[in-house]
Amino acid sequence: MIGTLHFLALLSSTMALGRAGLWSEGRNETGGGSGDRCRCDAFLPSSTFAIKDLVVVEQTAGEVSHKLELEMGKIEEYETKLTSYAEKIMKLTAEIEKMEKNPDDYNDADMEDMTVEIKQVEALIKELQLSISSSTAVFVSLQAQITGMVETLNKLEKTYDKNLVLATRREYIKVQAQLEECERRHQELFNPNIGSCAHTGIIRVGVPIVSHLNAHLSTSHKFGGWGKDSKPIPDRESMFWFSSYTSPYIGDIRFYTNYKNLILRNHFQHHSLQSSWTGTGNNFIVRDNTLYYQLNRPFGLGKFNFTTMKYESRVIPGASSGFSYTNSPSQNFDFAADETGLWVTYASQESSGRLIIAKIDEPSFGVSEGWLTSVYKPGVSNAFMVCGVLYVVRTVDTHTEEIFYKFDTKTKQESYISVPFERFQDKYSNLDYNPTDQKLYMYNDGYYVNYHLWFNHTAEATVEPSLLLS
Ligand SMILES: *[C@@H]1O[C@H](CO)[C@@H](O)[C@H](O)[C@H]1NC(C)=O
Ligand SMILES: *[C@@H]1O[C@H](CO)[C@@H](O)[C@H](O)[C@H]1NC(C)=O
Ligand SMILES: *[C@@H]1O[C@H](CO)[C@@H](O)[C@H](O)[C@H]1NC(C)=O
Repeated sequence: MIGTLHFLALLSSTMALGRAGLWSEGRNETGGGSGDRCRCDAFLPSSTFAIKDLVVVEQTAGEVSHKLELEMGKIEEYETKLTSYAEKIMKLTAEIEKMEKNPDDYNDADMEDMTVEIKQVEALIKELQLSISSSTAVFVSLQAQITGMVETLNKLEKTYDKNLVLATRREYIKVQAQLEECERRHQELFNPNIGSCAHTGIIRVGVPIVSHLNAHLSTSHKFGGWGKDSKPIPDRESMFWFSSYTSPYIGDIRFYTNYKNLILRNHFQHHSLQSSWTGTGNNFIVRDNTLYYQLNRPFGLGKFNFTTMKYESRVIPGASSGFSYTNSPSQNFDFAADETGLWVTYASQESSGRLIIAKIDEPSFGVSEGWLTSVYKPGVSNAFMVCGVLYVVRTVDTHTEEIFYKFDTKTKQESYISVPFERFQDKYSNLDYNPTDQKLYMYNDGYYVNYHLWFNHTAEATVEPSLLLS
């Protein structure tokens, strides 16, 4: 029972910890010349874990203890009975001894009475024996129940702790993410660095901000992408796009006027690609109201302009369909957009599977320049561009990704770096940078995930985000 007590104590302390979650954030615009002030308050949301099993064990414990009490009561009853039977037997024994000594003092009727009394005691003893053996059966089953309960408790305690750790970790990530989002807004408010390349590169990736499960609400839609237009046309600055499928394939895309509508799955446009223009792979992006994706036939670059509703294709000589990223097949062409324009990376037989960066001239949709890197594409998870620099990501362990390599197309310098970041779910098929908000967008096992990026600013003093928190 010690296990139970310990467990219940653990439960109550956790219950006390977990309270209704709330995150509040507000702008205090009081005029008065102090400017915008932003408030970031975090409340620890309630820990979510399955207490159903626990309740069952608790109930079982209650039942067992009630049954035990009943049995204890019965045992007391048996003891009383046994004492009285023993007294009776002693009395009978004494009578029989007396009878044996003076047989002549007793007649047949007396003998008859004695026999009846003996038979009665015998019957009582048999009855008691039966009760005791049924009681023993109860004890055996109670024992089994207790053993089972202890096993469940032990098991629960292990998984419970694990769940607790996971839940706490998730809550921590959530709160941390919201805090970062808030910090980020402060930063944008005070010192907008959006569009600026006055930095020496990424120094930190924030915690994963898990937005939502995809619009199909299906975890089997493991392949896809989501994000914002990296060069939005007027009035579509807050537009989001999304496309997914159960395999690395693109046949349709949805558009949402803003983030809220993305989460509400309220699209304003759903477009299916013509069957002869469908694509493979998931490293597609939307830029200038145009979808850029990997085309099936011919194997090459596909483009669909939603303003003109026109398709275009380009073949890159030598580009191979034989090299994809580690965790996701058919990702042969990876589109990327940054402050400097549109890019695509791929590998070829000639490059022995090593990544090639190609700059795309947007008006002509042709490759204007190319760079060969030393990164073997099948050994890495994904890649993206920021300010003309290619960043390549690899998987470290079940939770961790790492930006481990960068190639600057301006200087043709490559270097190995280590900027680790946390993955939400196991696999992802789309990771891209968006220069309009300096965020990384990931389509992670069916979930919309994004990350803030922190750069090593070289320009004039940047306000430290932590100082902005009032
Ligand atoms: C806003 O800030 C001012 C001054 O710091 C304070 O007096 C006021 O109560 C705040 N208002 C809200 C709504 O928090
Ligand atoms: C899409 O079409 C519009 C209208 O012709 C044009 O202005 C825009 O440049 C096109 N975008 C791309 C990426 O081709
Ligand atoms: C930031 O950039 C400066 C100047 O290039 C460099 O000395 C410093 O090591 C960089 N810091 C990090 C964390 O990369």
